[in-house]
Amino acid sequence: MKILFTSLVLAFIAPLFLFAQKVSTEQQIDSLIVRMTLEEKAGQLSQFSGGWNNVSTNSTVTAEQRTMVKEGKVGSFLNVFGSTITRELQRIAVEESRMGIPLLYGFDVIHGFRTTFPIPLAEASSWDPDVVEQAERTAAIEAAAAGIHWTFAPMVDIARDPRWGRIAEGSGEDPYLGSVMARARVKGFQGENGLTDKTILACVKHYAAYGGAEGGREYNTVDISDRSLRETYLPPFKAALDAGVATFMSSFNEIAGVPSTGNRRLLTDILRHEWGFKGFVVSDWTSIPEMRAHGIVATDEEAGMLAITAGTDMDMMGGVYLRYLPALVREGKVSEQTVDEAVRRVLRVKFQLGLFDNPYRFCNAEDERTLIYNDANRAAARAMARRSIVLLKNGKNVLPLKKDIRSIALIGPLADDRENPLGPWAQVGRPSDVVTVLEGIKAVAAPSCKIINTRGCEIVDSLPTRDFNEAVAAAKGADVVIMVLGESSNMSGEAGSRSNLDLPGDQEELLRAVCAIGKPVVLVLMNGRPLTIPWAADHCDAIVESWFLGVQTGNAIADVLFGDYNPSGKLPVSFPRVVGQVPVYYNYKSTGRPANSSYRFTSKYIDVPSTPLYPFGYGLSYSTFSYKDLALSSKKIATDGIVRVTVNVTNSSNRDGEEVVQMYIQDEVGSVTRPVKELRGFKKIALKAGETKRVEFALEPNDLAMYNREMKWVVEPGSFKVFVGTNSSDNLEDEFEVVQKQ
Ligand code: NOJ
Repeated sequence: MKILFTSLVLAFIAPLFLFAQKVSTEQQIDSLIVRMTLEEKAGQLSQFSGGWNNVSTNSTVTAEQRTMVKEGKVGSFLNVFGSTITRELQRIAVEESRMGIPLLYGFDVIHGFRTTFPIPLAEASSWDPDVVEQAERTAAIEAAAAGIHWTFAPMVDIARDPRWGRIAEGSGEDPYLGSVMARARVKGFQGENGLTDKTILACVKHYAAYGGAEGGREYNTVDISDRSLRETYLPPFKAALDAGVATFMSSFNEIAGVPSTGNRRLLTDILRHEWGFKGFVVSDWTSIPEMRAHGIVATDEEAGMLAITAGTDMDMMGGVYLRYLPALVREGKVSEQTVDEAVRRVLRVKFQLGLFDNPYRFCNAEDERTLIYNDANRAAARAMARRSIVLLKNGKNVLPLKKDIRSIALIGPLADDRENPLGPWAQVGRPSDVVTVLEGIKAVAAPSCKIINTRGCEIVDSLPTRDFNEAVAAAKGADVVIMVLGESSNMSGEAGSRSNLDLPGDQEELLRAVCAIGKPVVLVLMNGRPLTIPWAADHCDAIVESWFLGVQTGNAIADVLFGDYNPSGKLPVSFPRVVGQVPVYYNYKSTGRPANSSYRFTSKYIDVPSTPLYPFGYGLSYSTFSYKDLALSSKKIATDGIVRVTVNVTNSSNRDGEEVVQMYIQDEVGSVTRPVKELRGFKKIALKAGETKRVEFALEPNDLAMYNREMKWVVEPGSFKVFVGTNSSDNLEDEFEVVQKQ
């Protein structure tokens, strides 16, 4: 009885206590804001960059910047990390500035901190959100140990155009997979149960539709319909928000004539009013003053006015808020309440991090020594890297290689390369930490195996005296040839747009020369985007897509080549045959004249098939899987009903393996046209040799819903197709009917 009474009292008091705590944070913020000058408020909304070098983990800050901290002119730094410098600057902020408000340290922790993980596009190829979450947790632990509070990740921009180099930083072309990955990454960075000193704040970016850049050209104009904004580009942002993401970053691009940083509809109407976001929005690097070049404002002052009233709270590197906000308020051009609201959002996040209780909670030299680049983190990076690899072809089962193979010719500019496997945005990743493909293979192959390694050519510019003879001779003398070809890391990532998606430089010619010998050829690709490789697809015996795998590159690739790991990755993006097909993606619209090869007047090219070389969701394994007995729990449901979809998947080989079982739908007739297929579920399952598992999915109203003509989110009656299979084009198929709920 006593226990019951105590529990009742606690149950009653606890919420009051929580409420009181919440109120008191807001009150503390109020009491700070009333005491702040306009200059100090503008300071809280201003972020500047420190300098850093890649070798030491401590970055540099100028004397002028220290003075700015003392004068309350900085709310946040980016690119300042390392326990010594972050502690020192934080001390100036809390002890020497008038208001004593702690600084917030942001950094681009895009795929690992020092322990560089695979690029995000590669991680998405795992179709394994739990492992991706773990990867981000490791990154967060390392970053936090170096004094970082906040990462500018995840990047969730849907990208259907591989010319755009930033496709490397996201999860590919699909809003559903993109949303699953967005959630996993936010939970990985921020933790499941609230922030600790081993988790960091996430910042979902680039809001919005940055991946829709015309021609795939970086920073370019985006002109999309409201429908594609809602259906294609916004879902991963909403998923990140639902997972509790603390901050958003506005994108560089305009949408329908309005740059995102000054776009009130995006930043306030949708984000705050419709979605209820309570955190803050940071601009992208100088995207506030860049609104002049966009031609939407004439001066920096006007840019500041447009940005703050649209809902951009923090000015990254523009210096515009610091210079102009106080005067804009004094002149009555911006209300002080607008500025206060932005300051409140920034301070709220600082409270949320616990910085007012302990401003040094992330600056810990001991953690920095023990938690960064340790054995456990390297093991996590290797596990993530091998799960990120996609096997594109395995003719005559040339893979896996036998460990007692007598000789290997390892050819290509990336075969023994330590810089490029880190990929774009590796930041503090060190080439000296990278295990090259050569090293990885040496560690696995029998000591008696003869490995002849030669570059053959450079990634881009080969010498005028280019000579494939050595490579050809190496191939002639070997049992198998492994060619490691692809892009350099700076060919993708920010400002890494390409107009041509072929293997750069002389690499394809080298490949042709080597293939002409007639030895089995395994092509290992390193690249930050889909490449156009139709010749290689026809002529190589096996193709392994490794993207950029980070510090454990060589080990992960060797694990796959020799069968210590059975590949299980699937493409998160379609591979075009030629660049002229771009954009090519699986969830396209039918048109009134769907492609028909026997009739000219249909929607297709006359010189290339309409299909991609490798479709979304595609990827092989050393096991083979068969799909049977697709069944639906009901053939007719009401608009609020649920259909259970089941299928039997069998590992029909004699090797244990993993398969990503994918479920797609098609709403056959809608009040607006619907894509020919939309991913609505997937499960990655392990199957022992010969084993069968029954896999079940539930299709709920939200999976069937769409924006109707009035842009209302509804389930429309009508028939739906269901497809289940191993990729987006190879499926079993069934159908059911949705009827209006009575
Ligand atoms: C510009 C990039 O667009 C953005 O993704 C990044 O977070 C910032 N620079 C900060 O480095």
